[in-house]
Amino acid sequence: MVCLGNICRSPMADGLLRQKVANLNLDVAVDSAGTANYHVGAAPDKRMIKTGSLNGTPIDFLRARQFTRQDFHDFDYILVMDHANYRNVCALAPNENAKSKVQLLLNYLPEENIEEVPDPYYGTAADFQYVYDLLDRATAAFISQLQKQTN
Ligand code: 4NP
Repeated sequence: MVCLGNICRSPMADGLLRQKVANLNLDVAVDSAGTANYHVGAAPDKRMIKTGSLNGTPIDFLRARQFTRQDFHDFDYILVMDHANYRNVCALAPNENAKSKVQLLLNYLPEENIEEVPDPYYGTAADFQYVYDLLDRATAAFISQLQKQTN
């Protein structure tokens, strides 16, 4: 899961996917990163931690890191939150196979007319809740697609 700062959107997506993977007993490694390095080592934004906790998804244990080329080797799916993340991650791809791993997360919600997870950083509590709900639906859709492919 990749966003800009790795303190709001991608840690929430990471926590939600981890929770679903654990609940379903799946052998899937989940992690998140930011394309920027501003917040490396930091815990998620307090407002995102609070929203996660109010909704039963803890993310306080996560720490921000920057996306690296190594991630193309370590992961099969690189799910980005917006078009800028898509461009920044693709710019680091060593080859076409690596680039083909990069997708907008909201591609998994084709019935919803939205391509990007909005950055809640300058928003209100309602914006954080909106992001939580969107990420909850998108991670559920991703898992169900993954299960269809591997069954
Ligand atoms: P995120 O949100 O990409 O969802 O983690 C942001 C957090 C911090 C900043 C930008 C986006 N920032 O510029 O500090």
